[in-house]
Amino acid sequence: MKSLYERSLAVLPPVALRATNLGIVKGDGVYLTSEDGQRYLDFAAGVAVTNCGHNNPKIVAAIEKQLHLLVHGGHNVVYYPSYIELAEKLTKRVGKDYKVYFSNSGAEANEGAVKLALSVTKRNGIIAFSHSFHGRTLLTTALTASNSHYRENYENALPTVYHVDYPDIYNSKLSKHEEIEHCLNELQQLFKNIIAPSQVACIIVEPIQGEGGYVPAPKEFLVELRKICSQYKIMLIFDEIQSGYGRTGYLFAKDYYAVEPDILTSAKGIANGLPLSAVISKTEYMDQWSPGAHGGTFGGNPLACAAGVAVLDIMNNEFLADVRRKGKLFQQGLRQLQQKYSVISSVRGVGLMIGAEFRSVDEKKPLTELVTKIRQEALKRHLILLNCGVEHNVIRFIPPLVVKEAELQTALKVLNESIAASLTK
Ligand SMILES: Cc1ncc(COP(=O)(O)O)c(C=O)c1O
Repeated sequence: MKSLYERSLAVLPPVALRATNLGIVKGDGVYLTSEDGQRYLDFAAGVAVTNCGHNNPKIVAAIEKQLHLLVHGGHNVVYYPSYIELAEKLTKRVGKDYKVYFSNSGAEANEGAVKLALSVTKRNGIIAFSHSFHGRTLLTTALTASNSHYRENYENALPTVYHVDYPDIYNSKLSKHEEIEHCLNELQQLFKNIIAPSQVACIIVEPIQGEGGYVPAPKEFLVELRKICSQYKIMLIFDEIQSGYGRTGYLFAKDYYAVEPDILTSAKGIANGLPLSAVISKTEYMDQWSPGAHGGTFGGNPLACAAGVAVLDIMNNEFLADVRRKGKLFQQGLRQLQQKYSVISSVRGVGLMIGAEFRSVDEKKPLTELVTKIRQEALKRHLILLNCGVEHNVIRFIPPLVVKEAELQTALKVLNESIAASLTK
């Protein structure tokens, strides 16, 4: 019998790149079961989505209950309880006086956030950062600057977005302070030479870059960015699609940094695998977004919202504290491996959003092929790992947040074996 991968070749285009050829029939907790009955420890979580664990029974029960009541209502047609309940619970958790608009995907939320900023400010300028990833629709492709391949052949259809350097203190030759100064100076040069701040609607930033390499921004940088945005009445958008929903041990990374954006976008973990995303902003801005200026057929689907309510019920303070604790333990384990393998040039991250970068010891060249080998070796040992970074030389560790300490230790053990096997090849 043909495998799912083999069957896919005849009917699926190559455009949807897959990290593995695995055919998966079942998920539970941190494990996936393949079509040939093998169990895999999943440190990818569908790219940081199934934060509460695959098929979490409480979330499955909430979806099942909703399934028998209403599958689709259409938020442009009617109101339904799961939508309102999630909006109430989520805005309360974000802070005082927020409103939320639900859509389906991360890219759609970022589109919504930029549209909100353009609407409110009545300005046109959009600024994003080098190595950022914000999605694959045309606007979000224009925002993205982590890989020229994403833009290839689409350039003519992309709206204008200005990019400035994002501080990467892990690879910069400058000191942390100088690196931050350099990036802020680039922004000031942009204002001076290309677009005046009075013309800029928004600056969109990932507080911790995801695809770009799991690079946390230094707090001082985000604090300065906040000040600059307030000074020029530019709306600061935090793209928390990957860094949000408990990943960092905080509901959103903004709470880790204690920096408040004007608009926050969320997706991925928000409904633990059902398609849902959110644009969240202060009431004073949301109330200026006129009826019909944004919308969509499926956004805030009843099943997805019911799952979203269950997710928030699970992600209480105790749950988040445990993520922070486990994140520290895992980083300690990775640092021990770093002592042993000098090709690990840095270990960084917040909570369970952790990256390990691989570079050659002398020249500090990115070790992209080595990372590919390590991931293959790990897969042979039934551990699923993803890479990231503009050079694809960073392994990211993003297990479901319900991962147990013993499973973290297993992953470290497999990683140790996989690095050793890859280095001797
Ligand atoms: C930071 C960030 N923004 C936006 C997106 C796009 O989200 P989606 O794939 O749901 O459109 C992603 C997806 O990886 C992301 O990591």
